[in-house]
Amino acid sequence: MPVRPVVRLGHPALREPAAPVAAAELGTPGLRALIEEMIETMGAASGVGLAAPQLGIGLQVFVYLAGEGGAEEARAVINPMVEPEPGELVYDWEGCLSIPGLRGLVPRHPALRLRGMDPAGRPVDQVARGFEARVIQHEYDHLNGVVFLDRMRDLRSLAFEEEWEEFLADTGRK
Ligand code: NI
Repeated sequence: MPVRPVVRLGHPALREPAAPVAAAELGTPGLRALIEEMIETMGAASGVGLAAPQLGIGLQVFVYLAGEGGAEEARAVINPMVEPEPGELVYDWEGCLSIPGLRGLVPRHPALRLRGMDPAGRPVDQVARGFEARVIQHEYDHLNGVVFLDRMRDLRSLAFEEEWEEFLADTGRK
């Protein structure tokens, strides 16, 4: 499967709400091929998540790496719904393949319930926490035309990656 170009901020697909995938599309070769391309593109870019609008495709599909510490696995969710679990917002650094080179501190819910469908049309219903919950919120936002910059409470934490690595990587959480 080919790696596809990731569109960057300014492309209209990143600012438009994505359309639900029709029930008739679930499990079809076309949808499976799109998801394989998304997973491959995410991996080639060393990303932890990718939403279909980032390939210029306005469909409610995202992929992400679930799990941590070398046991990550790529998962795909179609027509997702995200419901925050109770808990105080947590700040941590985020970047985005569509906003290359920048990092910023973003508040997110510490846990959430994710519902939707997997590529075969089976229901997804799970609770995610921590970093995984953060990635899911970031990717879900892409399906609503929202990027992490919109979620930042203070743009003064915005940093280029090289400077971030030198000055901020160990210090930024609050
Ligand atoms: Ni992103």
